[in-house]
Amino acid sequence: MRVLVIGSGGREHALVLALSADPEVTALSCAPGNAGTAALAEQAAVDLTDAPAIAELAAGWSADLVVIGPEVPLVAGAADAVRAAGIGCFGPSAAAARIESSKAFAKGIMADAGVPTARGELVDNPARLDAALAGFGPPWVVKDDRLAAGKGVVVTTDIDAARAHAMGLLDDGHPVLLESYLDGPEASLLCLVDGSCVVPLLPSQDFKRVGDGDSGPNTGGMGAYAPLPWAGPKLTDRIVEQIVAPATLELARRGAPFSGLLYAGLALTPVGPQVIEFNCRFGDPEAQSVLALLRTPLGVLLHAAATGTLAQQPPLQWTPGAAVTVVLAADGYPATPRTGDVLTGADGEGVLHAGTRRREDGEVVSAGGRVLSVVGTGADLTAAREQAYRRIAAVRLPGAHYRTDIGLRAARGEIVAPATR
Ligand code: AMP
Ligand code: GLY
Repeated sequence: MRVLVIGSGGREHALVLALSADPEVTALSCAPGNAGTAALAEQAAVDLTDAPAIAELAAGWSADLVVIGPEVPLVAGAADAVRAAGIGCFGPSAAAARIESSKAFAKGIMADAGVPTARGELVDNPARLDAALAGFGPPWVVKDDRLAAGKGVVVTTDIDAARAHAMGLLDDGHPVLLESYLDGPEASLLCLVDGSCVVPLLPSQDFKRVGDGDSGPNTGGMGAYAPLPWAGPKLTDRIVEQIVAPATLELARRGAPFSGLLYAGLALTPVGPQVIEFNCRFGDPEAQSVLALLRTPLGVLLHAAATGTLAQQPPLQWTPGAAVTVVLAADGYPATPRTGDVLTGADGEGVLHAGTRRREDGEVVSAGGRVLSVVGTGADLTAAREQAYRRIAAVRLPGAHYRTDIGLRAARGEIVAPATR
């Protein structure tokens, strides 16, 4: 099976690494890829917003399966274009990807499917903002209704900060979603979905804020660990039953069946898991941790999802223990990351590249905000953390920063899942 992976982040490097270990995968290409994927796969240039170009590339390379990593090409219709060219595709149609690209669409799906989520109100008129804010908070949750790479959300107890963020979005012509605050530890559940059948992967937790102790602004994700030692054994089944399966059913009912990876971002509140957001693709950096523990060959699995045959697959096999992923970010990330710095020590085990590029002189340089991620595994979270942090200490990039507390509270037993009704 010839597999083409679309994207260039740490998630795509993790996908390429896992696919390269599947004996069924005979050829692997990554477009546009990065300096890390180049060591494992052929590389091709492609514009991620250009769906026809992605389908053309797949046809020209004789791909049997295209795996689309990021949301941008999915929302642009890349999966539709690939399937229309007669090629298997892991990734939802543009119609189904709206579950990520429009928070209002996602809210509608959840309302119709009876999926628990925060109460929300969409504001597109600045004159209505103050009245709407009065119906929420504190804390206030103010979201950009459009794709914002995880950076469009402000959660604050300061109403002036909430108003300022909302006004900024409205001034830019973006509708604003206000939400009730969901209190409880967060979890991500990534599920393979083939239109109807839902196969959950291990639950994980992402660290969205840039700084230790959840300080500073939101980012695309600064680290993740899997599984969740503090969650009970029934949590995954409950999330599938109450959240992912009903959402999948509702998408199909609306004529937009979801095929690919459906990501539920959740708050585990005292009244049960509630949806913070859905994503239409693997989480980054959750994928790095989850895929590090997956023993089932990935190519076969993604092909089954793409062809509607997940129900015929044997149960997933996992390496026991834990995985921890730590993201190394460029100076200035998330506001204005500096690029072009020379990176060294980034070819060790567990290092997954993201914003990196090999210069003509052979040096690898930073080329994005999240430069790379480093994965450690071990018998438990403490061991996995030790390996991840030992590995990241060997990487050198001027001005770079990373969080030192990924998985720390969980390793210490400080996270308690609320007793739920
Ligand atoms: P999102 O981009 O929707 O995933 O939001 C980014 C982060 O903001 C989430 O991971 C949460 O930490 C926080 N957040 C978003 N919505 C809520 C909410 N309704 N209640 C509490 N925290 C939220
Ligand atoms: N790590 C969160 C996301 O991929 O959206």
